[in-house]
Amino acid sequence: MLPRAIARRDMDHGRTMSQSRDSEKGSITSGGGSRLPMEDPVLRVVPMPADSNPHGDVFGGWIMSQVDIAGGILASRRANGRVATVAVTSFVFKEPVFVGDLISIYGKVVRTGRTSITIDMSVYAERNRLKVEVVKVTEATLVFVATDEHRRPRDLPQLVT
Ligand SMILES: CC(C)(COP(=O)(O)OP(=O)(O)OC[C@H]1O[C@@H](n2cnc3c(N)ncnc32)[C@H](O)[C@@H]1OP(=O)(O)O)[C@@H](O)C(=O)NCCC(=O)NCCS
Repeated sequence: MLPRAIARRDMDHGRTMSQSRDSEKGSITSGGGSRLPMEDPVLRVVPMPADSNPHGDVFGGWIMSQVDIAGGILASRRANGRVATVAVTSFVFKEPVFVGDLISIYGKVVRTGRTSITIDMSVYAERNRLKVEVVKVTEATLVFVATDEHRRPRDLPQLVT
């Protein structure tokens, strides 16, 4: 659950972010004037009442778990096998998420090491299905490690071009 003070601060920051969204490249406009990225999301999901906090907004831990799942999908694709989340280096809740929002989670591998994969994730909510409003709600950076059958780090496979 997000403390109110943090949620308010991030909502203020989110308004600043939303002004720059209009200049994002490679995105499509929706009814509300904000944009979804052009690429396919890794995951789309709708939060249910059971995912909300006592105030009725969606619980931050639910969003974190969805982002971890989506990041894990991308990481295991790059690792060609099992991965483990080793670190969440950044996680910013810019706007609240509401029950019934259509959540789209996007991700991009931004760095690879010998065994690790760093992924930048962004989360958008589509609200008001009849007059769609798109809001960027979360940004996060997660690090995954390719692991072997003994759960120890394993070298990433070379990319075939
Ligand atoms: C993931 C795990 C196998 C890594 O084992 P380890 O002995 O710590 O591995 P290493 O120290 O060799 O680090 C492996 C890679 O992770 C990176 N790494 C380790 N800790 C990191 C951190 N805090 N932040 C960013 N990267 C980190 C290392 O830089 C290294 O990257 P590289 O090989 O690309 O250079 C082990 O930490 C683990 O099992 N953790 C629990 C995973 C888990 O259960 N996740 C779910 C959450 S409950």
